[in-house]
Amino acid sequence: MKTAEIRKKFLEYFQSNGHTVVASSSLVPGNDPTLLFTNSGMVQFKDVFTGKDMRPYTRATSSQRSVRAGGKHNDLENVGYTARHHTFFEMLGNFSFGDYFKHDAIRFAWTLLTEVYGLPKDKLWVTVYQEDDEAFGIWRDVMGVPVERIIRIGDNKGARYASDNFWQMADTGPCGPCTEIFYDHGEGIWGGPPGSPEEDGDRYIEIWNLVFMQFERDVAGNLTPLPKPCVDTGMGLERIAAVLQHVHSNYEIDLFQGLIAGAARETNCTDLQNNSLKVIADHIRACSFLIVDGVIPSNEGRGYVLRRIIRRALRHGYQLGQTKPFFYLLVKDLVNEMGAAYPELAKAQSRVEQVLRQEEERFVETLEHGMKLLETALSEIALTDPAPSAGTAPILSGTTLFTLYDTYGFPVDLTADICRERHVEVDIDGYERAMTRQREQAKASGKFKMAEGLTYSGTQTQFEGYEHLECVATVLALYVEGSQVDQVTSGQQAIVVLDKTPFYAESGGQAGDAGVLQSTSALFVVLDTQKIQPAVFGHHGQVSQGSLKVGDKVTAEVDALKRSKTIRNHSATHLMHKALREVLGPHVQQRGSLVDADKTRFDFAHDAPVSAADIEKVEQIVNAEILTNQATVAEVMAYDDAVKGGAMALFGEKYGDTVRVLDIGFSRELCGGTHVKRTGDIGLFKITAESGVAAGVRRIEAITGDNALTWVQRLNATVVKAALALKTQPADLSDRIILVQDQIKSLERELDQARSKLASNAGNALSDQAINIGGVLVLAQEVQGVDPKELRGMVDQLKAKLGSAVVLLAARSAEGKISVVAGVTSDLTSKFKAGDLVADVSVQLGGKGGGRPDMAMGGGTNLEALPQAITGVKAWVESRI
Ligand code: ALA
Repeated sequence: MKTAEIRKKFLEYFQSNGHTVVASSSLVPGNDPTLLFTNSGMVQFKDVFTGKDMRPYTRATSSQRSVRAGGKHNDLENVGYTARHHTFFEMLGNFSFGDYFKHDAIRFAWTLLTEVYGLPKDKLWVTVYQEDDEAFGIWRDVMGVPVERIIRIGDNKGARYASDNFWQMADTGPCGPCTEIFYDHGEGIWGGPPGSPEEDGDRYIEIWNLVFMQFERDVAGNLTPLPKPCVDTGMGLERIAAVLQHVHSNYEIDLFQGLIAGAARETNCTDLQNNSLKVIADHIRACSFLIVDGVIPSNEGRGYVLRRIIRRALRHGYQLGQTKPFFYLLVKDLVNEMGAAYPELAKAQSRVEQVLRQEEERFVETLEHGMKLLETALSEIALTDPAPSAGTAPILSGTTLFTLYDTYGFPVDLTADICRERHVEVDIDGYERAMTRQREQAKASGKFKMAEGLTYSGTQTQFEGYEHLECVATVLALYVEGSQVDQVTSGQQAIVVLDKTPFYAESGGQAGDAGVLQSTSALFVVLDTQKIQPAVFGHHGQVSQGSLKVGDKVTAEVDALKRSKTIRNHSATHLMHKALREVLGPHVQQRGSLVDADKTRFDFAHDAPVSAADIEKVEQIVNAEILTNQATVAEVMAYDDAVKGGAMALFGEKYGDTVRVLDIGFSRELCGGTHVKRTGDIGLFKITAESGVAAGVRRIEAITGDNALTWVQRLNATVVKAALALKTQPADLSDRIILVQDQIKSLERELDQARSKLASNAGNALSDQAINIGGVLVLAQEVQGVDPKELRGMVDQLKAKLGSAVVLLAARSAEGKISVVAGVTSDLTSKFKAGDLVADVSVQLGGKGGGRPDMAMGGGTNLEALPQAITGVKAWVESRI
């Protein structure tokens, strides 16, 4: 029974028993802060249980998409390690809102399982809540389950969550005792019945949980009875499908086969049993549906859970050797499998692909670097801690965990997952400590930069820097590591306060000046200038010669070259601001800027990317203003007069009563910064980058003067070099590239044709080798010199050519592995299943394999066994005739 049919039968059964079929709700619970994700079918009915909401029905049934990751019910860590855990799954459920209770809930479940689905009664076990004699009695007396298969389980002395026969959705909300139904997968699998020491094994699997909702738990943990007793049940669709499809692992059911094949295709993995494929197949479901329901990868809350799942999937892809984005390509496979049951998924396909792709592109690079760092750390651990002796596992340090998180974007659970595979533990406490340390340092360095908290009560700094780059001044105060001192000597880092200075202190987006302070006995190199109070400047730097005392006279000299580069960029920013408003509209408003000697970086309000044509327009306008070579005029006046006079005040800036109005070319702005004397001083203006920084905010980077010239020269050199390489002139470069691309495309086409001709010739030659065994054409061959990836296509061709046949081809890869592909034409699949044949052959090769009855893949590594295994196909067919 296919998964789709199992889902349908479930809903139909309950519908015929008076239940209303309700559609799955979103994975993001509406208006419910107590819950990260919808984790079961009852979530959308939570308020109906508690009596806060009413529905036109008292019986409902649904197949609910659910996620158990990151929240209270969290299975993320188990995915890839067990046969039955998922981050995303579908929960089949039936619900009674004050209608039927224990007796009917148990009867419905038992009848559906044993009569509709036809499960043998002796394979089913049940558990009941320790004190629930009523449920025990119903199972024993009404359903006839033998007492040795009814197990009482306690609530773990008030433990809050699942596995203890008392179920609740989250810390608060409706809850109650439950009875669970288990399926015994048989002796071949390790594990014991529920409640036994071996219960964690995979033999006895819980398939259905019937909760008798009776209470609501409040924040203090108190239980209040619900207005009416209710029923909430949940059966994992994947688990019941595994039972009904006679497979042990959920990952072997029909729905997962297509996803695993897709994951194998995109990671070029031929071993379909590889665990990483299962993880990827699981994660593409969770990630796609979360995005369908509006979650976007981010650094907090739901978005961070999504990011963690995506990154976990990418890491497994990387493990299979895939270092490029691949995950988003599986969305189409998922749509194939689940699009019919969830039309919202099919509709959102391209959006989901786009979100995943972007997230993958962000992470692939750091993934590779981070993995290298981790590998090194792990191999060092292996060296220093050779054996997990005395039962203690080696430990990965908290600092490494933190670096991986902070620099490479590895969520801690991702690193822990890798370590788990290597039997290494992780030092979570150490990681938390490193995190706290970083937060404190960030705070401290922010303080130091602003130099807040320095005690200073002298006079304010008189700024001379609009007119002069040099002046004589007196040292008023000195600070070393936050404390005031009288003297600093050679080698010491310090902050110097002067009575007056030509150094501009960082403000209004313009970087602070650098330069030197020279006294008769000392040279102090200033690296940066920052305000320590609104009108007191601190010169940050180091004594390079002699010693400097409070009261000394110094000559303060600004680094003129650096300053001249900075002011060009600053003045150009004003012109650009005005030009952007002309080109894009008056909604353009400055949102932030950073001007230093290298560039100007300007953020502004605008909704869409700025087109290349508009960028050119802005460049033309600004450069035209530069060429007018007008003088800059600065005037201090009352704020109101300035604004009346048309000066642009910046959004969010605080201004005093008097302001400095600056006319540069056609722009008039309020600004305290330093500027060029004439617009012509700016030189060439060039925009180098345009990007988005936040919703509705764009960022432009631009350069001026000699920086712009160097930029143009480098660009020119690159173009000339590229033209030379393509044997053409710079002006013809783009035509030439298009031509070369066309040539590559046509060569690729020819290569494809040649390849498929070769394969079909090989196929023709092979088809002659088919032999007739009891009326069945059988072809089993090793093919030489063929890439294992071509095998599938060859098998398809041979099937078509032979019409009715059993085909098995094997090929060796360069690494010495054997790939096997089998195909059976549809007229023969009732007797000969390709999946069985491949499994049989693969086992002989020391590997595994399987697939559909008409097409299956597998392989192994035992090269010596190959001839025998191929000859054996004949006997395999004979035994089935
Ligand atoms: N809400 C119950 C569960 O998830 C049925 O197990």
